[in-house]
Amino acid sequence: MKTIHIGTSSPYDVHIERGSLLKSGELISSVTNSKKAAVITDDTVNELYSEELIKSLQRNGINADIFVFPHGEQSKNLHTLGEIFDFLCKKRITRSDFLIALGGGVVGDITGFAAACFLRGIKFVQIPTTLLAQVDSSVGGKTAVDIPGGKNLVGAFKQPALVICDSDTLRTLPEEELSCGMAEVIKYGMIRDKNLFEKCESHSITDIHEVMDDIVYTCIDIKRQVVENDEFDNGERMILNFGHTLGHAIEGWHKYTDYTHGMGVSAGMCMMTRRLCSSDIAERLEKCAEAYKLPVNTEAPMKELLPFCTKDKKCEASNISYIICPEIGRAEIKKVSVDDFRILMEG
Ligand code: NAD
Ligand code: GLY
Repeated sequence: MKTIHIGTSSPYDVHIERGSLLKSGELISSVTNSKKAAVITDDTVNELYSEELIKSLQRNGINADIFVFPHGEQSKNLHTLGEIFDFLCKKRITRSDFLIALGGGVVGDITGFAAACFLRGIKFVQIPTTLLAQVDSSVGGKTAVDIPGGKNLVGAFKQPALVICDSDTLRTLPEEELSCGMAEVIKYGMIRDKNLFEKCESHSITDIHEVMDDIVYTCIDIKRQVVENDEFDNGERMILNFGHTLGHAIEGWHKYTDYTHGMGVSAGMCMMTRRLCSSDIAERLEKCAEAYKLPVNTEAPMKELLPFCTKDKKCEASNISYIICPEIGRAEIKKVSVDDFRILMEG
């Protein structure tokens, strides 16, 4: 068992332990006296893990109702958010009660945003069940939903009261979702930790579970450092967006349907590195991504991706920020005019 303390404005612990879902009731009881909760989850995760969670809550005297929505990014919207609010009203959830996000990044993001807004803010606990959610989205307090104008455009900073990472839950993840999470793991290696990158290089999608607890711990600890330095995303935190400017554009180009966030991040990191860094780094990164069945490029024409880039949150006025890694383990933030970015990408 390992715990990482996140020293943000509202501090909390991340508990990392195989089998910890079974003792989530006990862990949650250490951060709240409330005996009433609402679990928010998607249909896939509900089938797999709700029963275990509810039993553990009951053993600790906590009663919980469950709200289930259809899995996938298409549910991360204002309509689902409205349904969650209606559910919380119907179940008479009060400010002293709390929400539990049981699932991947979609569940975590929408539940966190619901917790930030409902009754002007109530506590919530993250129980991430995808690799991406464990290493990235459940920690750091970014919450959001998508709107027709763009992904994650409506949201809030809301830190959870506790994060419980049980890497046993990752055993049921489809390979494609494990790959997605590995895109973020590779990202952490590229931006901050050469050893982590080398660990990724020395494994592949078939044997990565062997070192999963170490990987989850290392990634969360990197996120802790970055978020503690820049909780509200005004500077250093931007390095976590390595690969995301193009990645989000590629996801948007695919209309968020057949293309996952992790695939976008992987293609985005590789394309930026291939264009702007030395070829030996680009080759190592591409080889590593391919070992986790991740894309290193996209069929989308750059001309069609650029309008998505300028709609992104990383684009302010006529400037755009992007991240490069001139060496493995070190990231730099660059800010250029949209015109110069266009030249860099199309050149
Ligand atoms: P997701 O939540 O859609 O989960 C992926 C799929 O895996 C879903 O179909 C889900 O039902 C299924 N699933 C989840 N856990 C499972 C398990 N243990 N076994 C089997 N199936 C399981 O997607 P995701 O990749 O976890 O998260 C992507 C989302 O996270 C995006 O919306 C992205 O914007 C967001 N995100 C947020 C942040 C942040 O800081 N808040 C960071 C990165 C990504
Ligand atoms: N996933 C990017 C961030 O948390 O800032």
